[in-house]
Amino acid sequence: MGQFLEEAEEIIRRCKTLAECTEEPGHITRTFLSEPMHEVHRRIRGWMEAAGLRTWVDAAGNLRAVIGNGPRLMIGSHLDSVPHGGAFDGVLGVMLGIALVKRWASQPRDWGLEVVGFSEEEGVRFGVPFIGSRALVGDPVMDDGVLDAIRAFGADPAQLPQAAIGDDVKAYLEFHIEQGPVLEMNRLSLGVVQTIVGQSRYELTFRGKANHAGTTPMNRRSDALAAAAEWIRSVEWIANERPGLVATVGRLEVAPGAANVIAGLVRASLDVRSDDNAVRAGAVKRILMAAQDMVDWRTVTATYEQVLDVPAVPMDPAMVRALRTAVRAAGYKAHLMASGAGHDAMILARKVPSAMLLLRSPGGISHHPAESVLAEDVEAALAVGRRFLDNWRPS
Ligand code: HGY
Ligand code: MN
Ligand code: MN
Repeated sequence: MGQFLEEAEEIIRRCKTLAECTEEPGHITRTFLSEPMHEVHRRIRGWMEAAGLRTWVDAAGNLRAVIGNGPRLMIGSHLDSVPHGGAFDGVLGVMLGIALVKRWASQPRDWGLEVVGFSEEEGVRFGVPFIGSRALVGDPVMDDGVLDAIRAFGADPAQLPQAAIGDDVKAYLEFHIEQGPVLEMNRLSLGVVQTIVGQSRYELTFRGKANHAGTTPMNRRSDALAAAAEWIRSVEWIANERPGLVATVGRLEVAPGAANVIAGLVRASLDVRSDDNAVRAGAVKRILMAAQDMVDWRTVTATYEQVLDVPAVPMDPAMVRALRTAVRAAGYKAHLMASGAGHDAMILARKVPSAMLLLRSPGGISHHPAESVLAEDVEAALAVGRRFLDNWRPS
């Protein structure tokens, strides 16, 4: 086995051991600054410090690590997971960053390298994504629950301004599994991201009237779940009308949630994405109007609250060119693609030139325990990362 394949295997092993750090034994569930994140930090800091990195935890609970001085390149991804997620979403990018420190240290450098493990990207615990990376761009989430969770974890929210990166961070590079089928369909190991799709997330509330399931005639009901169900079908219809547009209702809370009680209250999540901002905005408008249509003829009301609205984010053209050059130099096809998944790179791109390298997702599956990555593709990403480091210069 080649030296670099061994490194790739070690990276995969590390991701799998981090999967043991979970809120739900038997599943991978690790949300913002939950208890298992302490053990995640302990294990990763050990690997970081063994690689020669100086480590600390910032006020947003991000695990930060630097080697060298002066202007620096940042490599990172997130350490949290979705409920019952996979072992590689996020952490793989941090493990690759640590593995590349060896290449950074292989020759004299007049620039530094930072590896960051973001405390939260998925938006599961508080419904707000990118808590970790937003702190780095000076846009911290100041929700009371988030601040309490930061204190409970042992960090100090008063220090959030100090978590922001200064102008010594010159660029950001993120390695991440594709989480979709494109690279596998094209028999490719790697993809260079041109644009990360825009995302709109909403919370909808359908209010009806709980009542007895047996004694309430059909024409005297205010059934919040029937209204929501009809609306969810229209979400699917609207999304199917445009290629590249996706819309998902991933979470549904029904109250009171008993088989013999008509649902009086339903809370539903909505996630709409497209690489075209106008298409996404138009779809959101139609989907929210559809909620109104589904309730108008019922004595049910529908309200909504916007949780997130981030436009499609193009990656930095010069960084994309440099990454494609490194991919070709490593002997791989430099496939340019959009990322349907959101990533911390879309937040860092607000402040510094950012780019992403995606690794093939076998079976195109992610946000699921069957999520995986091939050692040969991790080896490919390491080869590209080494060449990128050798050519990168702070500017
Ligand atoms: O939802 C996403 O796109 C990412 O996996 N957090
Ligand atoms: Mn994810
Ligand atoms: Mn991710």
